Amino acid sequence: MCGIMGYIGHRDALPILLDGLRRLEYRGYDSAGVAVLGNGHIEVRKAAGKLARLTEVAQTAGLLGSVGIGHTRWATHGLPTDQNAHPHSDCTGSVVVIHNGIIENFLSLKEALVARGHTFRSDTDTEVLAHLIEEALAAGAGVPLEEAVRRAVAQASGAYAIVVLCSDQPDRIVAVRQISPLIIGLGRDETILASDIPALLAHTRDVLIIEDGELAVLTRRGATIQTLDGAPVRKAPVRITWDAEMAEKGGYAHFMLKEIHEQPRALQETMMGRLDAEGRVELDGVAYTDEQIRALQKVWVTACGTAYHAGLFGRWLIEHWAKLPVEPDLASELRYRDPLITPQTLTVAISQSGETADTLAAVREARTRGSRILAVTNVVGSTLAREADDVLYVRAGPEIAVASSKAYITMLAAQAMLALDLGRRRETITPPRAAALIQQLKALPAKAQEVLNREDVVRRLAERLAAADHVFYIGRGLDYAAAMEGSLKLKEISYVHSEALAAGELKHGTLALVTKGTPVFALVTQRHVYEKTLSNIQEVKARGGDVIAVAYDGDEEITKYAGTVLRIPRTDDMLAPVLAIIPLQLLAYHVARLRGNDIDQPRNLAKSVTVE
Ligand code: AGP
Repeated sequence: MCGIMGYIGHRDALPILLDGLRRLEYRGYDSAGVAVLGNGHIEVRKAAGKLARLTEVAQTAGLLGSVGIGHTRWATHGLPTDQNAHPHSDCTGSVVVIHNGIIENFLSLKEALVARGHTFRSDTDTEVLAHLIEEALAAGAGVPLEEAVRRAVAQASGAYAIVVLCSDQPDRIVAVRQISPLIIGLGRDETILASDIPALLAHTRDVLIIEDGELAVLTRRGATIQTLDGAPVRKAPVRITWDAEMAEKGGYAHFMLKEIHEQPRALQETMMGRLDAEGRVELDGVAYTDEQIRALQKVWVTACGTAYHAGLFGRWLIEHWAKLPVEPDLASELRYRDPLITPQTLTVAISQSGETADTLAAVREARTRGSRILAVTNVVGSTLAREADDVLYVRAGPEIAVASSKAYITMLAAQAMLALDLGRRRETITPPRAAALIQQLKALPAKAQEVLNREDVVRRLAERLAAADHVFYIGRGLDYAAAMEGSLKLKEISYVHSEALAAGELKHGTLALVTKGTPVFALVTQRHVYEKTLSNIQEVKARGGDVIAVAYDGDEEITKYAGTVLRIPRTDDMLAPVLAIIPLQLLAYHVARLRGNDIDQPRNLAKSVTVE
């Protein structure tokens, strides 16, 4: 999730680019760069770290010109260094490219380009585009930049937005959108491009929203849009009425709600380029060998809070598909006992930030006992990523709300891929079963969107629950893992006391707290324990509890047991938590909103807990 800026007009480009990048800071970044075209020559400046560093470097260099592009990077390929920061150039320095997203086939493209004599200066996937455009421009005299870009992107697969500048064609900027967002602002004798609206509002409120598969040519006088096949696209400008704060949140009232709604796209990015139709999984950053995996005797999963709940899901999948015993362990507990971790153990450490002190301490403890460490994290170059042997990035993009949503859901998808990979390498899952699961995984983003489209039902339910003092969540198996996360979400932002229980445990004590009207969420997606959970629901109903079920579409039986049913589309039961958590996240959000709480920064909590 990077920030993109482009400017072509009559003013100095540099201050406009830097100001736009600053307004995109909330998207998170680890490095930044600008390229300015003046006097037929492109000057590039880049810097890892804070934007202030780039500002200093670029201002000292005194880059002059009224055409330019700028970028803040959230690393996906290659560490956050000056070298890997965008823009990236071709061999001649006359083409520069910035990019948001992932080029899935960059390795094979890079190999072919190197074989044809191109020199690469970074570890990024982006740089292949600069060299492909260089080749397309060299193919004949007078090839327009847009045509060269079209030929280059025809060879690339993935999800991206790219912006290209060429010193030989200084009257234009070319941009292509393939899934990642791009917006063009129309000013007076100037045209501005950004990955998000807040970066444009200081200059104009009239924008063109570029759609997937469209290419835009920006000039000082405006922009023309065409499809990637060259067919012209006509679109009317849209007037933006949001204030600056609303714009940062994409029009949502809170970052948390925005992040909940970003989940379909986040899931898509997690899986991008890692799964194929034959049931194979290709996990970039994971370097273990078949021999190492076959020698494993146990997997330890360690994490805190929401990441731990994600680990409980991973435990089920690894046990089921890879037939390896899995021990989930809260990171804050692991190091204070004598965990039987050995060199035949794989320790999977899960952390959105990759900086949680408890998780890092647990990892170091596992390391001293000889375990290989596999990190599942969202932050490239984080301490956890640096200390691990294997890193599986979840690619959720920056998560700003303290309460985790999209990081959790992408941790689930990442672990599903990990469990499939372990199962394939250990030959404990058949290729047809793996292929069927991959189909189900790939269908999850669209199904997640269907759940989000039903937000109104949850909003109404929240009105009924906003005054509750205690709420319980029950489920068996994977439903229990999802129930724990649903309960934590409600607690941390609405401040309503809640507890999650394995449904069968309720009768062993906590049932004493269920009285007339006590809200009890019952998750019933696991068919092998469906009847058993219905019995537990009966126990709640017999005490007057208000049962709210989370169930599949088409499950009519449940309506005899639950007054309210939150529906999710059918999927493989092993993947159901990915969908079941969404109504529970929305419920927590709307209850917190009705109670007037500070949703993005709940009391007493921090986004990343760097103390033990
Ligand atoms: C989740 O909503 C919380 N913010 C918290 O439980 C969090 O998941 C935990 O502190 C772990 O953080 P990490 O994923 O960055 O390691």
